[in-house]
Amino acid sequence: MSIILGIETSCDECSASVLMHEGGSFSPISISTFSQIELHQPYGGVVPEVASRNHLEQIDPVIWDALQKAKIEIEDVDAISVTNRPGLIGALLVGVTAAKALAYVTRKPLVPVHHLEGHLMSAFLKSPKTGVPKIEFPAVFLLASGGHTNLHCIERPPESWPATLLRDSLAGSSMDDAAGEAFDKSAKILGFPYPGGKWIDEEAQKGGSPTAFDLPRGLKQKDSLEFSFSGLKTAVALLAQRLGKEGVLEDALPDVCASVQEAIIDPLVRKTLVLQKMKNAKSVVVVGGVAANSRLRARFLSESPVPVVYPDLQYCTDNAAMIAAAGAVRFAQGYGLPASDFLKLNAFAIAEH
Ligand code: KG4
Ligand code: ZN
Repeated sequence: MSIILGIETSCDECSASVLMHEGGSFSPISISTFSQIELHQPYGGVVPEVASRNHLEQIDPVIWDALQKAKIEIEDVDAISVTNRPGLIGALLVGVTAAKALAYVTRKPLVPVHHLEGHLMSAFLKSPKTGVPKIEFPAVFLLASGGHTNLHCIERPPESWPATLLRDSLAGSSMDDAAGEAFDKSAKILGFPYPGGKWIDEEAQKGGSPTAFDLPRGLKQKDSLEFSFSGLKTAVALLAQRLGKEGVLEDALPDVCASVQEAIIDPLVRKTLVLQKMKNAKSVVVVGGVAANSRLRARFLSESPVPVVYPDLQYCTDNAAMIAAAGAVRFAQGYGLPASDFLKLNAFAIAEH
């Protein structure tokens, strides 16, 4: 059994979590997150310098809140894990520096974590409502967030993941915008606040038809596992302009949103199921903020021949429980850096693995 403190500051959530790892189960004991969404909303997207400065203010209270909620002292944790790649460099450095300082003072091992490995691990977190998730291998993972759109085929449970897991298991990714980014950019054009994914989802649910407007799908070839969403922005802008001129944009919004949503969701669902069939995978797992989308969930429910697993909503968007879980796996595998080594640890904006 080990107790891990996880720290996440790669983008616009400042988060800390205490997690217990025991016999293949990953149980978050506490989680404390400060979301910066309201701070970035006036700018229509994340402003890196605003993010870093706010992380600096929030990191201490968030860590102490997580420890307090878990009713433990920092001395009780076995290791500290922190996202050190990829992300906004100024934001990552705040979390990494805080984690180094804590680990140095307490002489605890420090475990650097890849943010995307954290997202994959979010699927294994024990849910207060549904318990330990049942994921059968091989499993196809769709990771769809504001920054990434990846398809992975994963053969084994986390305890036996190699250090090169992300690279070895990658089957496809976006060549340009991420799925969440496509939602956010389209939403901005249509006048919704940042981040716009949930607004498009909600507006589409007001009776919008996914086939009302024909919007482009990138890389339509049947067996391609790559994604492209960059053509969508122009098409949405032109459509909004035309409907605006005709004075019908407001009334058509549910149809426009349902069509935009379909243009993003359709390739995600289709390509995930192509990979599932190719690999004869026994489960499909959907992680990242876009996993919250109701249309995506409805389509997987009706089209997937194997069970589809989602993390709890609180673990879909960026959070430190998933970082603590990824840290727990790597700590158990011996990747914890001792005090003599971790002062050299750095953060990386871009990281292949
Ligand atoms: O995983 P996440 O917190 O971000 C990154 O790690 O990058 O996901 C945030 C993304 C945003 O782009 C947001 O618009 C999208 O997830 N999102 C949604 C929904 N809820 C959040 N997209 C579509 N439908 C939703 N219901
Ligand atoms: Zn993320």
